[in-house]
This record gives sequence, structure tokens and C-alpha cells, in this order.
Amino acid sequence: MEYEFSVIGNRLARGSGIGELMEDLGHALASGGPALKMLGGGQPAQIPEINDIWRSRLVDISGNHGLSARLLSTYDPPKGNTEFITAISKMLRASLGWKISEENICLTSGGQTAFFYLFNLLAGAMPDGRKKQILFPLVPEYIGYAAQGLDQDMFHSVRPLIEETSPHEFKYHIDFEALKITPEIAAICVSRPTNPTGNVLSDEELLRLSEIAKQHNIPLIIDNAYGAPFPGIIFTDAKPLWDEHIILTLSLSKLGLPGTRTGIVIGPPELIKALSSMTAIIGLANPSIGQQITLPLIQSNEILGFSKTLIRPFYLGKSLTAQAAAQEIFGEKFPWRMHRCEGALFLWLWFPGLPVGCAELYERLKAHEVLIIPGNHFFFGCDQTDWAHSRECIRVSYAMEEQTVREGLEIIAEVVSRAFADAGESRQVAQE
Ligand SMILES: Cc1ncc(COP(=O)(O)O)c(C=O)c1O
Repeated sequence: MEYEFSVIGNRLARGSGIGELMEDLGHALASGGPALKMLGGGQPAQIPEINDIWRSRLVDISGNHGLSARLLSTYDPPKGNTEFITAISKMLRASLGWKISEENICLTSGGQTAFFYLFNLLAGAMPDGRKKQILFPLVPEYIGYAAQGLDQDMFHSVRPLIEETSPHEFKYHIDFEALKITPEIAAICVSRPTNPTGNVLSDEELLRLSEIAKQHNIPLIIDNAYGAPFPGIIFTDAKPLWDEHIILTLSLSKLGLPGTRTGIVIGPPELIKALSSMTAIIGLANPSIGQQITLPLIQSNEILGFSKTLIRPFYLGKSLTAQAAAQEIFGEKFPWRMHRCEGALFLWLWFPGLPVGCAELYERLKAHEVLIIPGNHFFFGCDQTDWAHSRECIRVSYAMEEQTVREGLEIIAEVVSRAFADAGESRQVAQE
């Protein structure tokens, strides 16, 4: 039988560019040999000291009847476990001075789900027939947002300004001149640090966005999957920001607990109620495991301590090693720049004038057993056909084993060099 799907069914179930890419990556990974270098995913690294903390919590829980029953045999309220919410609220009030209470917090099944709820709650077809959109003030942005709209054209994005900070480095900035808040804009959304680029919007940029959102009476959504106060994969002194019109999302994933699917949303009470209602309808409750594993570490603030003393230095070290390897391996072989790595798990590489386009580069690298993510997928919400830059970048994870990253960068150098050399040769032939 051939099934007919609804409009929403088609949108969610008939695949997306990124879905296909993920499938392709999955197949390549499954069929690849030991030489395969997986630099395409967003997996957090394995940090032995952190893994020990989670394992020891699991041992404590499994040895305790009451805790095991709470973990496995009870539904939490749709909003999340009450004790966990109180602990988060206390920790953020005490450590950051934010005026929040339990009313400002709810849980979702991972940060990804929080975004699906938020975007579709605020944007799309409105009851009075208007259409509203989410504004991304700076693309490239997190690929996981791109296919989340249940309505058409729910996203609008703005190209960044590019600052060439040193011979092989660059940094994106928000082009505030180009940022227009029309009545259609329902909310502004940024990830900070940004996946894929490792960009961290400065405190000034974020405050300016916050002011703009406030003036227009719309929320500013800040996706803090990587940042402070936890997990701490942020290498600048940028301050976390919250205000009454800000919706901040946190996640336990990049603490090393992606399998627990735990997202935390801090926002205005009215929105928190709406999100809890969505959880009740869609999933009844959220997974309890991440909340139960981390609860005492939140109550004791230890989570803030090891984000700073273990997780941040671990990723900073890996990022610096990978950056140094790229400098050494790429040298002056071809035109290349790397986005200043201020956080998150990735190197964002730009090959100005790349003759083949990043989608083709992805295929060529896959044939050489290196898996990366082609950059074009991160430029969504605006027409990029006239912007070569959007086809000249790739995202490479630096969170894998050092040797794997190094070998991957060596192969990237070979394949990119060849692409430039072939283009040079064919230009020469054409001239002759
Ligand atoms: C910027 C960003 N936001 C949100 C997510 C979703 O994370 P999770 O659903 O695991 O909390 C990710 C995952 O990689 C991410 O990179």
C-alpha cells in the first residue's frame, strides 16, 4: 500500500536535506573500514573523569531502591522533576544572580525538542491569518533547526559580516544594518557558542540583540548547548545572559549525557506553561535519567565546578591541537581560513575560491574515508545562490581522537589541493 501523508506528515516524514546527509553519513560509517575518519558528527568527546562521575552516579542509583524506582518506575510531571527544577533555579539564582524561580523553568526531551516546540509555538500560521517567522540574525547556524518548521518559510536569516582577522583566520559578526525586525518576526534566535562555526557572539552583540528584541516586544532565544555556566565548552569570557524576554536553553548532552535526552528551558512563565502543555500532549513526560543522574551535582554546584575545571580545559586543549595541526598541514598549499574557534566542538574551514563546491568536496572526502559536513546546509532561511561563500565551507569535528583528526586534516589537504590544482590546469588548457 502507498500511504498518503498529511502536510505536516510530509514535512516531518518525507526526509530533508540534512536527514539524507545524516543517513549517508550513517551508511558510510557502517560500511567503512577501520581507516574511516568520522569528523562529521556532533558527538561529545569521551572524557574519562567525567564518564567516571556518571558511572558512579549510576552505581549509587542502582543500589538505592527509592532512587531506582524514581528513575525507572515513575512519570515525572510534564514540566519536569520538581526537585530538579528547584535545584536548577537555586543554582542559577545563586551563581548568576538571575531573578528566576521554578515558574521560569521546564524540561524537554533534549534541546532539539525544545527548539521544535518553541519555533512552532511562536511562528507559522497565526490565528488571524498572519504568518510569522523566526529570525536568525547570523547564518551559518545550527543545521538541526533547518527542517523543524511545521509551516512553510518559517525561518528568515541574515548574512554575517566577515572580518579577516589574520592570514588564515576569520570571524563572523552580526550585520546589524541588515537586521530588519518586521511585524512578521516572532522571535530572534542564536546559538552561542554557535554550531557549526565556534563563534561566540560578544556580550555587546548579545545585549544589542536583547535590546532590539525588547523594543519590538519579541523574545530572544539563546541556545546554550555548549556554553556557560555548563557544559562550559566556551573559550572566551562571554557572560551568560538572561532577562524577562529571553528564552535560554541548556542541555545535558555536551556534558557527556546525550543519550539521556535532557533539555532545560529558562523563560517567561507563560511560555514555560505552553511548553509543558506540549510535552504532555506529545510525550506525557520527559526522560528522568539525566535529571536523576545530575540532581545532587546541581544541588551541590559541582556541575559548575567540573564544567570549568575539567570540560573547558579538555576541549580547549583539543581545539588548540587541531588548530595547530591545520596550520601545519594546510600551510600555504591553497587558500584557506578557519573561523576563530571560541567554543563548541568544531573547526569551520573556509576555502575561498574552492573550485568544486562543498557538496562535491564532501563526496570526494567520503571516497577517501573522511566524513565531514558540507557547509551549505548551515546557510538556511535566505537565498544564498549568489553567495559563493556558502559553498566554500566545511565543518570538521575536533572532538575525536587527536590522531583521527590529524589524519583527516591531512586527507582534506590532499583533496582540496587537488581540486585547486585541477581547476588551475583546466583553466590553463582553456587558455591555450
Ligand atoms: C547548537 C545546538 N543546539 C541544540 C542541539 C541539540 O542538542 P540535544 O537535543 O542533544 O540537547 C545541538 C546538538 O548538537 C546543538 O549543536
